[in-house]
Amino acid sequence: MTGPILSLRNVTKSFPQGGVIDRLLGRDSRFVALDGISLDIARGEVVGIVGESGSGKSTLASLAVGLAQPTSGEVLLDGEPLSALMRNHAGPWRRRIQMVFQDSASALNPRKTIGRCLGETLALRSVPRNEREREARALLALVGLGPEMAPRLPHEASGGQRQRIGLARALAMRPDILIADEPVSSLDVSLQAQVINLLSRLTKELGLTLLFISHDLALVRALCTRIIVMRRGQIVEQGPCLDVLARPSHPYTQLLIAAVPKGIAGRRSTDRPDALSAAAATPQTRDEFHGAA
Ligand SMILES: Nc1ncnc2c1ncn2[C@@H]1O[C@H](COP(=O)(O)OP(=O)(O)OP(=O)(O)O)[C@@H](O)[C@H]1O
Ligand SMILES: [Mg+2]
Repeated sequence: MTGPILSLRNVTKSFPQGGVIDRLLGRDSRFVALDGISLDIARGEVVGIVGESGSGKSTLASLAVGLAQPTSGEVLLDGEPLSALMRNHAGPWRRRIQMVFQDSASALNPRKTIGRCLGETLALRSVPRNEREREARALLALVGLGPEMAPRLPHEASGGQRQRIGLARALAMRPDILIADEPVSSLDVSLQAQVINLLSRLTKELGLTLLFISHDLALVRALCTRIIVMRRGQIVEQGPCLDVLARPSHPYTQLLIAAVPKGIAGRRSTDRPDALSAAAATPQTRDEFHGAA
């Protein structure tokens, strides 16, 4: 398909604000978290979304995966309105767009082993029971973890391992689009590098479309080809990542860049710390990911 894989058409999201008394007195007011966002994401694009806290990044992500509905406007997946796809909810669209959160540990059931958790996700994709274990191992390998992880409980894995397990679980659905909302901000620098390397590898090898939400301009620069700068529910600037970071045209982008300790946002990808350029795990091919089952 040639059109954009994901589009937002004049999307607005507002939330009621004020207490019960305000509402009883008819003093209804709404807070506009997204204010007329239009956006096209091409298949295989790696897009960074940056902006101050409260600018609407996570709200945009939750609308894109169908966790929330826009107040007005439309989200389109391969040109089809998500609202229509959701009405026929049996459709495969749900698996096509997956999300990883900042703290994926909290999304894992503490009483289920990692292998079982992956197996249940594979069951959702109707992978036959006798193939689930093999595929769970392949997923763990894809995110650079060994099979010894399968019988462990989430608390028996480190923060960086858990983050990669969260990623493995999202990938178990074989999504076309992955939305990662601050996926590494709870990790230390070397673990951040591992997860960023992994994401970079997955986008290249699997052709995954990635929306990477982050406060860290250096990570966005290392990973993304395009950057979208949000402020107060609007897109204030977007374009090729290197161009925007080198020559920001909007004063807000200039401020964001100025706030980064000198040199980081302007760092060339070849200047990345060793950890960022080191490979995170053994190479896996696109065929293994999209393979039979
Ligand atoms: N369910 C909700 N009800 C009311 N207000 C909300 C709700 N969800 C988000 N908001 C508000 O919408 C605005 C945007 O929130 P959002 O979580 O999208 O910001 P963000 O850019 O992800 O911020 P951060 O960088 O801190 O994660 C915030 O002012 C937030 O308080
Ligand atoms: Mg957020």
